[in-house]
Amino acid sequence: MKLLSVVGARPQFIKAAVISRAIADLNAAAGDKGHVADVIVHTGQHYDTTMSQVFFDELSIPDPVHNLEVSGGTHGEMTGRMLERLEAVIIEESPDWVLVHGDTNSTLAGALAATKLHVPLAHVESGLRSYNRRMPEEINRIVTDSIADLLFVPTEQARSNLLSEGVPGERIIPVGDVMFDATKFYAPLAEQRSAVRATHGLESGNYVLATVHRAENTDDPARLKQIVMGLSRLSEENTVVLPLHPRTRLALEAAGLLDDVGSSLLLIEPVGYLEMLDLERNARVIATDSGGVQKEAYFAGVGCVTLRDETEWVELVEAGVNVLAGADADRIVAAAEQLRQVDPEPGLYGDGQAGEKVVSALVEVTRQRKRC
Ligand code: UD1
Ligand code: UDP
Repeated sequence: MKLLSVVGARPQFIKAAVISRAIADLNAAAGDKGHVADVIVHTGQHYDTTMSQVFFDELSIPDPVHNLEVSGGTHGEMTGRMLERLEAVIIEESPDWVLVHGDTNSTLAGALAATKLHVPLAHVESGLRSYNRRMPEEINRIVTDSIADLLFVPTEQARSNLLSEGVPGERIIPVGDVMFDATKFYAPLAEQRSAVRATHGLESGNYVLATVHRAENTDDPARLKQIVMGLSRLSEENTVVLPLHPRTRLALEAAGLLDDVGSSLLLIEPVGYLEMLDLERNARVIATDSGGVQKEAYFAGVGCVTLRDETEWVELVEAGVNVLAGADADRIVAAAEQLRQVDPEPGLYGDGQAGEKVVSALVEVTRQRKRC
């Protein structure tokens, strides 16, 4: 079986690492009896070393077979250029499956390219909804889910979202969250290898970790300003460390806020995944608008202030470990003060074997198809 995975943005490299590890394990166990070819296609959406190559290096992800070098531009330009190049690559590679992750423009382009060529499409991290159609990610998810042949869902909520949209139940496969697999596998390595806290003089339990990159926050100066004010107020009590997404750096510069932010917060370059896991695990509280970081806060047992008005990971809010504070300085400060240590419940995001389940389901369905 040949699996062609389309990746392009930071969180997709981490998800791809889980799938590639599951493929490598399966190939090792199968010996001569079967082989899954793992073809990774990088669209080029994220391209800085700290946003891309660092993950391939530290997570031992196989090198992309193709890099399409498409980044920047409007959503239409970016997606269109990816679609054109992906079409050619899919024709050349002729895979049994195209696999896409999450909800970025790379996901959407991969999904459209595959289905237009009648190549079966699998979607990992399917079924998430914010019910906010102004988010580019929401459109990417809805389109991808509506055309995918197999939808791998991370949570019960995601499954029920798809069923309520009329997706046939036989296409939906609950596997758990590949990000939970990643945390489980890499957290011990992070503990051994990460020097990030020593480098920046961060004491365990005594700093706030923040990340900001969502378009709704970076592209709206009023929201960005409120978030900056909230984080700056938190920095009066604890160091606030902010690994800065390049999009946010540009937005802060454009809004004339970068110098102020730099004087109250500890701004650092985006960090590698192992360093990030270490920063999360030792934070007093996490403030973020990231999807992945909200869950990692929970896996780390740390409370999360979500800098958004809604979340796809509603089970965390229901469990009281994640507070939606929007882009409102007062609410951010109040939420950070209210949140305490978290006791992660086993099973909410699966058993840490999501990657194996995805790969074995794809192998099984391919076998059945070849028999027919
Ligand atoms: C994208 C995804 C978002 C995901 C995020 C993960 C879409 C619509 N958005 O958002 O869902 O949560 O990735 O981080 O697909 N830039 C650089 N260097 C890089 C990457 C980006 O300088 O390596 C800058 C460029 O100016 C670029 C801007 O950041 O134009 C935005 O990048 P883009 O990939 O369009 O969106 P993200 O905000 O990263
Ligand atoms: N991450 C990282 N370094 C950073 C910031 C984030 O390795 O400096 C990781 C984080 O641990 C998580 C993933 O990137 O696994 C989340 O990516 P991001 O927040 O960019 O996107 P989202 O999950 O919101 O789509």
